[in-house]
Amino acid sequence: MKRTFSVAPMLDWTDRHYRFFARLISRQALLYTEMVTTGAIIHGKGDYLAFNEEEHPVALQLGGSNPADLAHCAKLAQQRGYDEVNLNVGCPSDRVQNGRFGACLMAEPQLVAECVKAMQDVVDIPVTVKTRIGIDEQDSYGFLTDFVGTVSDAGCDIFTIHARKAWLQGLSPKENREIPELIYERAYQVKRDFAQLNISVNGGIKTLEECEAHLEHLDGVMVGREAYQDPYMMAAVDARLYGDDRPVLSRAEVVEQMIPYLERHIANGGRANHVTRHMLGLFNGMPGARQWRRYLAQNAHLPGTGAEVLSQALASLPAAAQAA
Ligand SMILES: Cc1cc2nc3c(=O)[nH]c(=O)nc-3n(C[C@H](O)[C@H](O)[C@H](O)COP(=O)(O)O)c2cc1C
Repeated sequence: MKRTFSVAPMLDWTDRHYRFFARLISRQALLYTEMVTTGAIIHGKGDYLAFNEEEHPVALQLGGSNPADLAHCAKLAQQRGYDEVNLNVGCPSDRVQNGRFGACLMAEPQLVAECVKAMQDVVDIPVTVKTRIGIDEQDSYGFLTDFVGTVSDAGCDIFTIHARKAWLQGLSPKENREIPELIYERAYQVKRDFAQLNISVNGGIKTLEECEAHLEHLDGVMVGREAYQDPYMMAAVDARLYGDDRPVLSRAEVVEQMIPYLERHIANGGRANHVTRHMLGLFNGMPGARQWRRYLAQNAHLPGTGAEVLSQALASLPAAAQAA
């Protein structure tokens, strides 16, 4: 598995419907689940680990800080066929801090090391960590390298670094993705100082040109919001970042391939907009982008809507977009 380009874990966004859709656009991108807490997996009623076989390579992101619970969940993830387990050390929300996990774990590298070790002891798939460059006033390069050093000593050799710190008090999670300054150089420096580690950078990356520039310094790039809001940006990922020149699906072909998927989802009792809400950005930048978005937003949530909503939305677009 080459982790040159990955789509970031995003709560409420990178669910299995989005991931199925994203996989139609890029064969190579590594896809992350939303963060799933160990509590939800162990005590929840739903199946939080469900995914479609087509999604591979797919990584499960866990939220938690109890080594035994994480090990249990990592084992389940491996049994279910996930390709990687990732620990969230980046989320700053209050809810997550109350559970003593997410970004606040940067202050407890020894505990993160124990968590990683407990998981690695029970699985063969890679155990990886997604972190920030610091928290609150603890934002020196030394703080970051202490963290990476301690966790890598425990056996983790794959890190994704969201290249901004998190303020644990006073900023919402959304603000914590925008206000703290992005310092990519910190991630580059980690790669220089820990050359044996696989390091990806995350945060504010919007174009493949930017990806290529980061890849001069690092092993991988992780893209979040842009891969969700303008998903067809991933259509060039395979050729440009992986040298995989196989033809890619057009936007219209992606829509056509989503129709049987949506039919199955509805036949299983789901609603159309669970799936179509992730597709609203498909035509971004094309004539008809607004019409596409509007048609789905106005129709897909109505009770009884079937998979034909996708072909109808496509048919409502100008001819140029339908062929794109
Ligand atoms: C809606 C949303 C939900 C997110 N949920 C998670 C999450 O569950 N786990 C996580 O590690 N990061 C989460 N993030 C942060 C992203 O993974 C990523 O680090 C951040 O958006 C910066 O990357 P970007 O600028 O490419 O979007 C979330 C971001 C967004 C926008």
